[in-house]
Amino acid sequence: MIRIKDLIVDPPTFLSPMAGLTDSVFRRLIKRLGGCGLVMTEFTSAEGLTRNSLKSKRMLFYHDEERPVTAQLFGADPSRLAEATRMVEDLGFDAIDLNLGCPAKKVVKACGGSALLRETKLLEQILKTIRATTDMPFTIKIRAGWSESEIVSVQVGKMAEDIGINAIAFHPRTRVQGFAGHSDWSLIGELKASLKIPVVGNGDIVTPEDASRMKRETGCDGVMIGRGALSNPWMFRQIHELENRLPLTQPDVTAKYHLIKSYFQLLFEEETPGAIGKMKQFASWFTHAIPYGAALRKSIYESQSESEVMERIEEFFRTALAAPVEAPELNVA
Ligand SMILES: Cc1cc2nc3c(=O)[nH]c(=O)nc-3n(C[C@H](O)[C@H](O)[C@H](O)COP(=O)(O)O)c2cc1C
Repeated sequence: MIRIKDLIVDPPTFLSPMAGLTDSVFRRLIKRLGGCGLVMTEFTSAEGLTRNSLKSKRMLFYHDEERPVTAQLFGADPSRLAEATRMVEDLGFDAIDLNLGCPAKKVVKACGGSALLRETKLLEQILKTIRATTDMPFTIKIRAGWSESEIVSVQVGKMAEDIGINAIAFHPRTRVQGFAGHSDWSLIGELKASLKIPVVGNGDIVTPEDASRMKRETGCDGVMIGRGALSNPWMFRQIHELENRLPLTQPDVTAKYHLIKSYFQLLFEEETPGAIGKMKQFASWFTHAIPYGAALRKSIYESQSESEVMERIEEFFRTALAAPVEAPELNVA
């Protein structure tokens, strides 16, 4: 359990925000599988929100079932961020987060995301402005710095703590690195040792054992998982099981089938724009390690409509569940 101002996060296991992926439907699915203590919206433009962009507003859609839920903003204009903060508060979120990690060109060109890590004067002004605007639990999510020669995690962490930020999630790669190479967990240990507020470690956790190792090696207060949760959404629950010496959930074909079905059902209920793309993406993650999953993925990618994707999934699982075959995964897709 960790406390972020007056917000209790229990267990201290977080779903990483991932633009285009961790929408309300995905977050609810993760929550239903158990073991995830906090979810966050995809990063949302303060500029877009305050200019009434429907796309940005849609990003802040959530269900009570997701609670506690944090709204993540990005931007570089203090007054727009203050206005967006008030909107987040009015929407009833449990916490607010500022993205200081996004490496995307479009974002850093406007000085948002990781660009603020090398604009510390502006960053200080932004943090102070948001802090003065709201009493909500306020967190930041950072990278290590712009480049190898500009590592600023401890400097930014201390500044944030002094301003009254309540927790920091840390992905220890630089902006220049993007997603290449490895995240340097030793920097998480260094940040943790420098601060009193909770530090949530993030980067390259792909198994429940990785989560335990990160906690052990860095002393971080919680862990945040992104890409690893896409192919294994049971990871949060498995982390809890591992820590409590319980047998680890091993999802079988039936469990994967039910998960895909629930996901599709939620997408339909929400009338999610671009649902067919999401269905294809999701079905491809969840059919790994299922016999003949590669052939299914190929046929799904050729589907022209949502109902066609659904039919192919149904047909595949009907066969797989009726007569499970001990066949190796075909490495085609
Ligand atoms: C497709 C994708 C989208 C992402 N979008 C966001 C985002 O909106 N906000 C954010 O703070 N980080 C974002 N990230 C970074 C992740 O939250 C996380 O910090 C990073 O993937 C490292 O964690 P992992 O190794 O567990 O994936 C994104 C990452 C990916 C792969």
